[in-house]
Amino acid sequence: MGVKEGMQVLEIGPGTGTFTFAAARRAGDRGHVYTVDIQESIIARLNEKVDRQGIANISAKQASAYELPFLDQFFDRIFMITVLGEIPDKQRALSEFKRVMKDNGLLAIGEFLPDPDYPMRKTVIAWCEGSGFRLSEQFGNLLHYLLLFGMQNN
Ligand SMILES: C[S@@+](CC[C@H](N)C(=O)[O-])C[C@H]1O[C@@H](n2cnc3c(N)ncnc32)[C@H](O)[C@@H]1O
Repeated sequence: MGVKEGMQVLEIGPGTGTFTFAAARRAGDRGHVYTVDIQESIIARLNEKVDRQGIANISAKQASAYELPFLDQFFDRIFMITVLGEIPDKQRALSEFKRVMKDNGLLAIGEFLPDPDYPMRKTVIAWCEGSGFRLSEQFGNLLHYLLLFGMQNN
């Protein structure tokens, strides 16, 4: 998804942090990865891991995708891996992502089987395009994929 040195990155639904730590390495000392999960226990475990490893460029907090505790147009990249299918009101979450993403930012959505909430690629594209995003690149196959979206008017 093209995370580069100095970028401000947001991850929704980090789980154990596999992708959080990888994004933080790419964002480097001048960048930062913020991550939110609706479950406090996920965030507590992730914060322990961040503290243990002494990582300064990851901040994890409990929050819902519907109400992100961040300023408008703050992020260069927003990503979520096997999360969107779990969120009941996709349009509400997607319009919140649009609020906090910079005009030239990218939203990355990854899904893979056998996740029980796995949505088909064309379903995710329809959700995102219906919320003002435009598909810019896609990777993967029927078993796993990553979709990158910019803003429709950009
Ligand atoms: C299947 S896990 C994905 C974990 C991780 N991304 C991975 O791929 O290893 C989905 C995560 O999304 C979180 N989640 C679900 N709905 C959410 C919402 N509305 N706002 C924030 N996080 C949410 C869940 O609590 C869970 O931790």
